[in-house]
Amino acid sequence: MSLITLNLPATAIMGAGARHELPAQIKRLGASHVLIVTDAFLRQTGLPDALASTMREVGCTVTIFDQVQPDPTDQNVAAGLQIFRTHAAEKSGANVIVAVGGGSAIDCAKAISILATNPEPLRQYMGYHKVPLAGVPLIAIPTTAGTGSEATRVAVITDTERHEKMMILDARLTPAVALVDYELSLSMPKPLTAHVGVDTLTHGIEAYVSKQANGMTDPMALSCIALTAGALLTAWAEPDNHMAREAMALAAYQGGAAFTNASVCLVHGMSRPLGAVYHVPHGLSNAVLLPEVTRFSLSGAPARYATIARIMGLAGGEGSDEAAGHRLVDGLEALNETLQIPPLRECVKVGRAKFDKSLEKMAHDALASGSPQNNPVVPTAEQIIELYRAAW
Ligand SMILES: NC(=O)c1ccc[n+]([C@@H]2O[C@H](COP(=O)([O-])OP(=O)(O)OC[C@H]3O[C@@H](n4cnc5c(N)ncnc54)[C@H](O)[C@@H]3O)[C@@H](O)[C@H]2O)c1
Ligand SMILES: [Fe+2]
Repeated sequence: MSLITLNLPATAIMGAGARHELPAQIKRLGASHVLIVTDAFLRQTGLPDALASTMREVGCTVTIFDQVQPDPTDQNVAAGLQIFRTHAAEKSGANVIVAVGGGSAIDCAKAISILATNPEPLRQYMGYHKVPLAGVPLIAIPTTAGTGSEATRVAVITDTERHEKMMILDARLTPAVALVDYELSLSMPKPLTAHVGVDTLTHGIEAYVSKQANGMTDPMALSCIALTAGALLTAWAEPDNHMAREAMALAAYQGGAAFTNASVCLVHGMSRPLGAVYHVPHGLSNAVLLPEVTRFSLSGAPARYATIARIMGLAGGEGSDEAAGHRLVDGLEALNETLQIPPLRECVKVGRAKFDKSLEKMAHDALASGSPQNNPVVPTAEQIIELYRAAW
């Protein structure tokens, strides 16, 4: 039997009001100087400053870096690192980082955390297990549900020189603490709820069909899928529905916990280049690819796809696994339609000829990320190009 390794945050606190546990966690980690990493939109909601106040009340100094862009870049990381270092010089060491936001803020904070203790450039840590020293402890407070980045050892940062989304995977990126407070996700508008919700579903599906799926990740992946199937449409249609938002927050964490230990597959492999080249938001680029990539992959894991279809209520127990797999593809297409996910051609905002010219590089980058190699059917570059065309 092959070994199973699990990397997860040491502490995760879930539920309404979990954000109020921040001062206690700060004290537990022995922090005196904190850097909050967030984005300008969230800053303007007042949330990061409110959290800063609660930390100042327990004796910490706090600096806020609020310049994270959606799909963060190496330049965002450099700007945050600069503020971290200034803060460190003034206060003899910012010793905890708190990320407040979606996957973008959390990933940017992860990269700042490891660059605070390891040499630059960030690019050298791309790939698996290349970070030599532990970073600054990180507390992740997600506001989307979501990427699951609060549970993962993954950071995705765009290399602005090479127009490539760098994926860094290392246990040293795992947050020390995750405070998963679904109340922070109540303000998500409908399109964001749709995009991040399908990202969550994709994490569950890809972790479950991955070649690296195992007896520890399967239950988390299946629970993620079941929760999403039961709650996403309600969270989308009724943004203030607390039960649905809570279920999606748990699903996002479970999806992250599952895929970080079992890998994502072809959908993520193909969606990252769409983000790097055409700036399609991460969840949206997954959503437009998910039905076609699932259709392509069915024959590699028919029983697993059938289980997903059944757990989502798309197929009963009586029919064949193959039939259930086809129902899953139909169900994913219908989900996109209900959530008003546009086709790929409307997401990339360029004409077909220009898109075609970028396909070779995108297929190359998809394969180079390593994710497609975990897919139930491992594609060639030509097949990836065909899949991009099919999703057009
Ligand atoms: N590290 C991982 O494990 C992992 C996994 C999947 C995706 N990602 C990465 O995460 C990034 C995407 O993150 P995301 O989808 O969470 O979005 P995001 O963090 O990019 O945020 C998108 C927008 O939503 C806003 N927003 C955030 N929370 C909100 C709220 N509660 N109400 C209203 N608006 C809100 C933000 O201000 C931003 O403008 C991508 O870069 C992707 O590659 C990382
Ligand atoms: Fe994702």
